[in-house]
Amino acid sequence: MSENRKVILTGANGLIGRALTIRLNELGYTVGALRSRTLGPHGIDVATGWIDREALEGAHAVIHLAGAPIAGRWTKARQQRITASRVDGTQLLAATLATLQRKPEIFLSMSGISRYGIHRDGFLTEDSLVSEVGFLGKLSAEWEKAAGPAQVSGIRTTVLRCGVVLAASGGALRLMLPAFRLGLGGRIGNGLQKFSWIRLGDLVELIIWCLRTPSCPAVINATAPGVVRQGEFARALSAQLHRPCFLPIPAWVIQLIFGQMGIETLLSDLHVEPMAAVKAGFRFATPTLDTALPLALGE
Ligand SMILES: NC(=O)c1ccc[n+]([C@@H]2O[C@H](COP(=O)([O-])OP(=O)(O)OC[C@H]3O[C@@H](n4cnc5c(N)ncnc54)[C@H](OP(=O)(O)O)[C@@H]3O)[C@@H](O)[C@H]2O)c1
Repeated sequence: MSENRKVILTGANGLIGRALTIRLNELGYTVGALRSRTLGPHGIDVATGWIDREALEGAHAVIHLAGAPIAGRWTKARQQRITASRVDGTQLLAATLATLQRKPEIFLSMSGISRYGIHRDGFLTEDSLVSEVGFLGKLSAEWEKAAGPAQVSGIRTTVLRCGVVLAASGGALRLMLPAFRLGLGGRIGNGLQKFSWIRLGDLVELIIWCLRTPSCPAVINATAPGVVRQGEFARALSAQLHRPCFLPIPAWVIQLIFGQMGIETLLSDLHVEPMAAVKAGFRFATPTLDTALPLALGE
């Protein structure tokens, strides 16, 4: 396979986009970015419906990572921003790709494990029933549907239902680290809720595997096989940092501080298995938390 191919990313400056850009460059791809909230060349702006079609013509693949941050209290305005950036952004991008003269071969678009709801018993695979419970459940349903026009137009399309990405440089782990470094970390609620995570380095390899695997399924759970309970995660992180782990945060405090965001993320209980990717031959470098955490703390 020739590696000298153009890959266009949205959200290239984000946690995943930065790491993916480095890896794609290492592999010899030519990486271009479509910058969010930018009118003009190499831009995409959901508010005005602007997208630079020229930048997309002839690309080998488009990888769509852009989206307004989820963390923080969800005011109405914030919910609208989160939804518009993902649903309207994906619609704009997918509809544009479908009508290009030289369409990309591949379109990869992010989604979240909230596609399975908030609390579910047992383990969940790509074949499990989906759910539209909660703000994130409805969001991810619409977000995934928005990628449809690309698939219908014949572009090989995959959505990645991504778990919590572990890397010290961004996302949830970066937010947790200051408290854990001070020895103030602990379980959240009763700590029994399942925590589906993926190390950033493995996620980047999984995205590249999706890019390079023609038989890649249309839906991929981007989570590591070694799902743990949240309390186990807190203990493992504290141990890794050589700090105590004795300050639990009760569920009601999470609800008070973060409202619905806390309920749907920090208190959610989902055991999501990466069945489709593993069955199709993808191998995780760090499938378990004890192998992943030391590396994630340096990423
Ligand atoms: N990190 C996780 O744990 C996790 C888990 C599940 C799903 N995901 C999804 O994976 C995608 C990438 O995640 P990430 O962690 O790399 O996110 P991130 O670090 O927050 O970066 C997201 C990117 O989205 C763009 N963006 C920011 N605000 C925007 C807005 N208001 N409207 C449109 N675009 C905006 C920016 O793109 P520019 O670079 O163009 O400025 C930014 O670099 C997101 O869709 C996220 O929801 C992430």
